Amino acid sequence: MKKVNKICCIGAGYVGGPTMSVIASQCPEITVTVVDINQARIDQWNDTDLDNLPVYEPGLKEIVEKTRGKNLFFSTEVDKAIDEAEIIFISVNTPTKTYGKGKGQAADLKYVELCARNIARVAKTDKIVVEKSTLPVRTASAIKSILENTGNGVNFEILSNPEFLAEGTAIDDLLKADRVLIGGDDTPSGQEAKDTLSAIYEHWLPKERILQTNVWSSELSKLVANAFLAQRVSSINAISALCERTDANVAEVSRAIGTDSRIGAKFLNASVGFGGSCFQKDILNLVYISRSFGLTEVADYWEQVIIMNDYQKRRFAENIISTLYNTVSGKKIVFFGWAFKKDTNDTRESAAINVADALLEEKAEIVVYDPKVSEKQIYADLDYLDTRSPEENRELLTVVKDPMEAVQDAHAIAILTEWDEFKTYSWESIFEKMLKPAFVFDGRRLLSKEKMEEIGFQYYKIGQS
Ligand SMILES: NC(=O)c1ccc[n+]([C@@H]2O[C@H](COP(=O)([O-])OP(=O)(O)OC[C@H]3O[C@@H](n4cnc5c(N)ncnc54)[C@H](O)[C@@H]3O)[C@@H](O)[C@H]2O)c1
Repeated sequence: MKKVNKICCIGAGYVGGPTMSVIASQCPEITVTVVDINQARIDQWNDTDLDNLPVYEPGLKEIVEKTRGKNLFFSTEVDKAIDEAEIIFISVNTPTKTYGKGKGQAADLKYVELCARNIARVAKTDKIVVEKSTLPVRTASAIKSILENTGNGVNFEILSNPEFLAEGTAIDDLLKADRVLIGGDDTPSGQEAKDTLSAIYEHWLPKERILQTNVWSSELSKLVANAFLAQRVSSINAISALCERTDANVAEVSRAIGTDSRIGAKFLNASVGFGGSCFQKDILNLVYISRSFGLTEVADYWEQVIIMNDYQKRRFAENIISTLYNTVSGKKIVFFGWAFKKDTNDTRESAAINVADALLEEKAEIVVYDPKVSEKQIYADLDYLDTRSPEENRELLTVVKDPMEAVQDAHAIAILTEWDEFKTYSWESIFEKMLKPAFVFDGRRLLSKEKMEEIGFQYYKIGQS
């Protein structure tokens, strides 16, 4: 097994930042450098005010405070960090392609390829290169081929080490990981590389939780894990629509099936739909791979998970419109939450974006309050859809910092993110401030139907008639 003194991670995002912070805190003898080409992002990671870190995660700033400047560094000097490290993690973004072959489904690997070429150009000593990004099956062989054909004759071992953390609980997930997956070649040097990486995680995790597999199993397992999780959400969301038409209550159905130990209780909360940067893109990736192997039924099966998710978001928006007497034009609708889930400032693929877009098409006036998402981000998300001009988006949608100011004279409130603070609000005072009848559309099943109706609200809770 190799002795590791220096680790480099390319990509200082939602995965690279928290993962490397935890490794640095658990392995004080190893110097960890996280590099990124985005200068603004690196500046935020180095900000003396820890509330300005680019990623919000409970517990993250405390770890960064303890390790930054000691054995954890954030920098834009990519080449230097590659040159010095024995292990290089690739943790760059792998978005869905927006052009060319595989557009709308396949993963765009240009950032990963650029990293591989950079490593090949710079490396003068043997390296272990770790795919931390989620990649389609067989990407490791592409990286290997680039490294072997363009490198300086040094030996590279490629490992797949997909990340299973969930945003919002990243630090806990990393510290108490159910398992760590390490895929690599079954050659003696491949085995040595797997053991070297394993030893890093063994600083804080029991050895039996570190699973070693071949590269392809590891790459595929990450896509499959996300597909299974998203499938549970879409399954319960499909049932939520049925519950609303009957006297069944989706919470009771969830509890009834979740207590079956074969099914389990997690990921059975009906909601306005899943979001986040991974579920949709990883399933699309699985769909694309299946289709490219001619496995039409397999591709269709997994694609349905996304179709159901789109349906749930559309259904929520359409319900708001039909309940508000079939017109929301000029009506003030307050969004509580914009992030794709609580305890993160990440908004990628958030259901709020599509719901807002549908309501803006009907000329609603939307006011957004989210405790962690910036105004700049909210407008960027809407502008990205390109449904209307940036000016129109700013005219119809405003962002506020005070939830109580937002609800003044509002026709309706839509709860899009399950932030805990929404539960603690004085809903009686909110009711006083709103126009009557005062509507609340709870896309996260956060509040009590009985209590809300007692206050006087017209209250709609996803999955309940
Ligand atoms: N976000 C999650 O919850 C999560 C969980 C598990 C796995 N993943 C996977 O991890 C990967 C990274 O996701 P993320 O959410 O951290 O993405 P992100 O967009 O937050 O961060 C990626 C970073 O990589 C940088 N980058 C891109 N190309 C670069 C290059 N050539 N050199 C240096 N830096 C470069 C970007 O500037 C960006 O800061 C993705 O493949 C994703 O699927 C994400």
